Amino acid sequence: MSLVVLGATGRTGQEVVAQALDRGLAVTALVRRREGLPVEHGRLRVVVGDARDPAVIEDLLPGAVGVVSSLGIPAAGRSRAEIDDSQRVDVCRVSTELLLAAMPRHGVPHLVAMSTHGAGGSNDGSPYVRWLRDLVGHRVEDKDRMEELLAAYGDGEVRWTVLRNPAIYDGPRRPHGVHERIELDRSSRITYADLAAFAIDEALTPEHSGRFLTLTEPLRGDGFAS
Ligand SMILES: NC(=O)c1ccc[n+]([C@@H]2O[C@H](COP(=O)([O-])OP(=O)(O)OC[C@H]3O[C@@H](n4cnc5c(N)ncnc54)[C@H](OP(=O)(O)O)[C@@H]3O)[C@@H](O)[C@H]2O)c1
Repeated sequence: MSLVVLGATGRTGQEVVAQALDRGLAVTALVRRREGLPVEHGRLRVVVGDARDPAVIEDLLPGAVGVVSSLGIPAAGRSRAEIDDSQRVDVCRVSTELLLAAMPRHGVPHLVAMSTHGAGGSNDGSPYVRWLRDLVGHRVEDKDRMEELLAAYGDGEVRWTVLRNPAIYDGPRRPHGVHERIELDRSSRITYADLAAFAIDEALTPEHSGRFLTLTEPLRGDGFAS
């Protein structure tokens, strides 16, 4: 029985893989580049492919207990001016569609999908969300579509949880809250370690299925929240 991790070369994905292996789980990791996940382990199976390929999704699922998808939209530049908005991104929507169709066939019950605070129903027009959506540009619409898909799927055979992330950073685990509704400011953040631990727990034993959650450390305020 394995935990499936999509986006396993990403910062969060690598942390999910590492923590899952530390917890004694078997892991099936999807990567586009094998060298992007520099881990060898007897309980790690690596599948190389694109998350929009139905055959790749099928290959991941036999024997899985749950799925964590930390697939992301391509890396942002450091400033608005560096970001290329010309390419439409659809990896989150397409892979989620494929997972929802394939998981019941393989008897895989739980999906944890990572989104962005400011996408879908958290696009609340607040200063933080306006700033975030301007920064991320069109690419955030892939998260919007993924959230729409899951909201419409509702209470189906696959039990899903969405994590709407604020800024994620490298650091030790810290106290944080788990929120369904919160207005963020630019001080909001969560560590890769906390996010990964929560995602694994939720994929194994969902306590928040059908919900859109934001994990954040306490806000310090930056004069940004209204
Ligand atoms: N980092 C943040 O501060 C932040 C803030 C808000 C929300 N989020 C969201 O939180 C989640 C985790 O963030 P992160 O920073 O850890 O992500 P990340 O480092 O950008 O990782 C994204 C992963 O998605 C993979 N990927 C993209 N397109 C793919 C495709 N077509 N097929 C297969 N794999 C594909 C990438 O593979 P390659 O290595 O091959 O590119 C990478 O492994 C993501 O959903 C992100 O959008 C992040």
